[in-house]
Amino acid sequence: GVKELREAIAKSLKRFRNDVALENIIVTAGATEGMMIACSTIVDKGDEVLVPNPGFIVYGPDVSLAGGTPVEYSLRQENGFLPDIEEIKSLITPRTKAVIVNTPSNPTGTVFPKDSVKALADVATDKDLYILSDEVYHNFVYEGEHCSFARFHDDTIIVDSFSKTFAATGWRIGYVATSKEIVQQLSKVQYYTLACPPTATQYAILEGLRMEGPYRKHLRELFRKRRDIAMRKMAEIPTFTTAPVTGAFYVFPKYSQGIESEEFAMRILKRGVICAPGGAFGSLGEGHLRFSYANSEENIERGLEIVKEVAASI
Ligand SMILES: Cc1ncc(COP(=O)(O)O)c(C=O)c1O
Repeated sequence: GVKELREAIAKSLKRFRNDVALENIIVTAGATEGMMIACSTIVDKGDEVLVPNPGFIVYGPDVSLAGGTPVEYSLRQENGFLPDIEEIKSLITPRTKAVIVNTPSNPTGTVFPKDSVKALADVATDKDLYILSDEVYHNFVYEGEHCSFARFHDDTIIVDSFSKTFAATGWRIGYVATSKEIVQQLSKVQYYTLACPPTATQYAILEGLRMEGPYRKHLRELFRKRRDIAMRKMAEIPTFTTAPVTGAFYVFPKYSQGIESEEFAMRILKRGVICAPGGAFGSLGEGHLRFSYANSEENIERGLEIVKEVAASI
């Protein structure tokens, strides 16, 4: 990554840790590449890596492509979609190398409170595990504050991206922040994967960082309003039960219609609204639908009105 961008990223991370310098940063082509090279670098053949179920779709395949075995830990609605520390401990074996975490979470919209972050970080420290921490939604926290795993665990590899913060998904710029030693290894893997992330968009993102001013606060307020509308509309659907959403830009209702989530999502799609079937995020996502409210207030109202009609017809 270009030096000035790495410096700007390091500066922005100082709110989490004081000792971050440009040597701790590698710029990536989004979080997708960041997570991929992190797994390729950390995971050896036969290693096990704990991954969330439900969780963002790339984690398991990234671990498998690196030659490892993904082992799922559960995030259950009745547990506020937070990890169960006792379950995590029970899944750790001598082969466990790392745990992948994602807060705020896609698909659940949950933000891990500081206590959960600390509890999980303590287990990782105790068992000598890496934490691969996908923090791409850290600007989208509506109650409380984002707490990075790097605050409590040295062997944390933060994967972040400008796709969400700057609504720049197609620009393919993100970064990984971790120890200087791991950054050196990541850059070797990146060299054979990508050579380097696109230079033009690196400079564009740098310009964005320089001129952002109160943008992030404004963004949070905008999305808080959208979250409130989405939650109000969800509450109008009697067959949906929606856990409180404190971050990211998703709602993940559980529905009582006894059909598969893919079938449900397809019926909604036929009426012009796209949502993701919960089953795409793991077995525990089945019976849920994932809606994104990264859209105008008007479209959220209109789209969820359609969802209400489809839900009433099944
Ligand atoms: C949790 C999570 N991580 C990573 C990504 C990928 O982001 P990027 O566009 O930076 O590759 C996404 C995109 O949806 C996401 O939801």
